[in-house]
Amino acid sequence: MAPLPPLSEKEAFELVRAAAAVRANAHAPYSQFQVGAALLTSSGRVFVGCNVENASYGLSLCAERSAIVSAVAAGERAFRAIAVVGGSGQIATPCGACRQFMVEFTPEMEVLLAAPEALDAITRSTAAQLLPDYFVFRKGA
Ligand code: THU
Repeated sequence: MAPLPPLSEKEAFELVRAAAAVRANAHAPYSQFQVGAALLTSSGRVFVGCNVENASYGLSLCAERSAIVSAVAAGERAFRAIAVVGGSGQIATPCGACRQFMVEFTPEMEVLLAAPEALDAITRSTAAQLLPDYFVFRKGA
């Protein structure tokens, strides 16, 4: 299937707004760093996620992986873009684990980042750009 074109500015802003909205559901009592993510599938569906921390800190789940897991559970594996809104006065750039999670499904997917206070100032890149030379599992290699 031919790759879909980059999101229009309006589409990008809408996805960022969805990420900002779900950020309110973040469970971040330990870091106070609330993050929301909205994932647009190639089929046009949107799945949202937020960070979910735990008293056992290492179990904490990032917003990006939360959205991706939700989409995969619904049968979606081809992604067009993910928007991430987090932090206060800053963009939350995805952690290494989340980058690897993104490239697993669609390396060329767009990644849209914005600070909660400036949703229209969107930093755009792709998952593969954020994680050059990413790990791919090849059986027997
Ligand atoms: N976090 C995310 O959810 N996504 C990011 O892109 C960066 C970090 C979360 C993990 C943790 O709950 C909190 O932000 C502080 O690291």
